[in-house]
Amino acid sequence: MNHCACEDETPDLSLIDDVLERYRGQKGAIIPILQKAQATYGYLPRPVMRYIAEKTNTPLHQVFGVATFYSQFFLNRRGKYIIQQCDGTACHVRGSGKIIDAVQTELGLSPGETTEDYKYTYEVVYCLGSCGLAPVAVINDKVIGRLKPRDLIDHVKELE
Ligand code: FES
Repeated sequence: MNHCACEDETPDLSLIDDVLERYRGQKGAIIPILQKAQATYGYLPRPVMRYIAEKTNTPLHQVFGVATFYSQFFLNRRGKYIIQQCDGTACHVRGSGKIIDAVQTELGLSPGETTEDYKYTYEVVYCLGSCGLAPVAVINDKVIGRLKPRDLIDHVKELE
């Protein structure tokens, strides 16, 4: 699987017009506006951030500053399936490194990559709050615990 090109085509900007209208003139509204925009587009495309800056009379660098400061915001398009493998202490001790190696070898996915078809984004994170189930992965909102090296690959292969 290959890296995505991560191009930013201009999406339908009118999809966030009602959100911009709702927060019009309100100070400190950039975060909730960015949250709604991300919920709409799945990430924050550059044209959307430019549009938000323009509509809220906020300097563009400030909008980018907020978007890059908070880890909840994504500046690149992500896959339909977000696969997060934990490599925190509890998971690491219980073999998450082997899972990460197996995913790389068998699926060709490295941490941080999104496939070209935007089907998968693969991330390594540090504690998913389910240490008792270590080693743990999450696919979108589904927690999968007590993984053996091949388990995550099997789960990924089952995805539509
Ligand atoms: S260290 Fe993996 S869930 Fe906590």
